[in-house]
Amino acid sequence: MFSRLRSDIQCILERDPAARTRWEVLTCYPGLHALVLHRRAHWCWTHGLKWPGRFISHMARWLTGIEIHPGAQIAGCVFIDHGMGVVIGETAEIGSGCTIYHGVTLGGTSLYKGAKRHPTLGKNVIVGAGAQVLGGFAVGDGAKIGSNAVVTKPVPAGATAVGNPARIIEADGDARREAAASKMGFSAYGVTQNDDPLSQALRGLIDNAGAQEHQIALLWQALEKLSGTAQPDDAARQENFEADRLNALIGK
Ligand SMILES: CC(C)(COP(=O)(O)OP(=O)(O)OC[C@H]1O[C@@H](n2cnc3c(N)ncnc32)[C@H](O)[C@@H]1OP(=O)(O)O)[C@@H](O)C(=O)NCCC(=O)NCCS
Repeated sequence: MFSRLRSDIQCILERDPAARTRWEVLTCYPGLHALVLHRRAHWCWTHGLKWPGRFISHMARWLTGIEIHPGAQIAGCVFIDHGMGVVIGETAEIGSGCTIYHGVTLGGTSLYKGAKRHPTLGKNVIVGAGAQVLGGFAVGDGAKIGSNAVVTKPVPAGATAVGNPARIIEADGDARREAAASKMGFSAYGVTQNDDPLSQALRGLIDNAGAQEHQIALLWQALEKLSGTAQPDDAARQENFEADRLNALIGK
């Protein structure tokens, strides 16, 4: 018991720059208190003592502002930072090393008793303040959920999900797509990701338009070289189609 407590305290010291000493963590971190009490409640729940489990969970909520159903399965080294307003449902599972900020709900969207209604977080997942993760799906190892995101679908390992409804940030691909889309006067981030065939078609079109613009820029450079009008800064010129310039080059 004490070795687990020691390791929980160590995890908090490593992950919270504001934590100064073990004593401070032990006495002033509601997330730690909630987890210690949850272990008692979970033991009761899994040993047929349902009411004592619920009652310990209720007292823990009263003391810490963190509501964890005694049925929830929580691994070691989980850090609930600040904690107020966190709600963790009965069939939720939380892998080791996860960090959960205040106002997070790991909730359900179905009312079927006994079914897996709440999410499973893999290892080292970060769930930002106010995020709502709703449903019996998995959030992969190392994923990040942005603050205030509303997640209702699985999140792949290592991915970052933000917004409402949450979308996955695909770092490089998205940056390129967003740059191409903004040149055309709209934002690709307004497009739902991954599941909608229409949005997939739009993403394909944006990627294609971006690639064509790049090809046109290369053609410009080749034409200018051929006509001997290349300027030293031409290579850095924006990749925009300039009909007048093309007309001038070809002598119209
Ligand atoms: C989601 C998160 C993990 C992303 O961090 P990151 O990988 O460093 O991503 P970036 O900051 O580079 O942001 C990438 C993009 O996502 C957007 N974004 C980041 N967090 C967002 C959020 N919570 N909601 C909506 N969009 C968000 C950024 O604006 C940026 O968009 P852009 O590419 O159009 O500029 C982080 O922003 C977050 O929300 N962490 C939770 C922190 C928290 O709750 N702290 C509480 C402390 S008390």
